[in-house]
Amino acid sequence: MVLRVTQYGEPVLKEKGAPVTEFNDELRKLADDMVETMHAAEGIGLAAQQVGVAIQLFVMELPVYEDEPDPEYQYDGKHPPLELIMPLAVVNPVLELAGEEAGYEEGCLSFPGIRGNVDRPTRLRMRFQDTEGNPHEIVCDGLFARVIQHEYDHLQGVLFIDRMHPKVLRPLESKIRRLRRATRDFLKGKA
Ligand code: NI
Repeated sequence: MVLRVTQYGEPVLKEKGAPVTEFNDELRKLADDMVETMHAAEGIGLAAQQVGVAIQLFVMELPVYEDEPDPEYQYDGKHPPLELIMPLAVVNPVLELAGEEAGYEEGCLSFPGIRGNVDRPTRLRMRFQDTEGNPHEIVCDGLFARVIQHEYDHLQGVLFIDRMHPKVLRPLESKIRRLRRATRDFLKGKA
């Protein structure tokens, strides 16, 4: 089922997600619905806060390019093909960041039409659980590490605009204010 994506201005986006303690059908259904929602919105990552639930869960799907080799990564110490591990549902992630910071233009499904450069470390190690509760570890860099950090931030209630340099943010401010007003009007209409 495709869910509504929460928009900037909704309080849930600023909430830190509670740790997941029950690995049940309800959790797996939510993860499946989030994958469906991410696909419908043509995104590559989606956090639980973005469907209105503040828990430690995100989903992601890196694009697979047939004519290009898979990016470098390790999944539980191996290198399975990308299509075997994507879409990926990540529960209770813990990150160890490494590498120099690099800039990249990011977007976010909760900020339609708004994109801007964000500096982040280029490499990371993530320990997490799948929706059955099994522990896993991913070591990656590039777009893989970028998406993980963006979604991990959502789980802490941190948004990509919070990480933008003021020089990047300033030209986006009027668009962001307009979005927040539209969200407030939507929420009032619902009340
Ligand atoms: Ni986002």
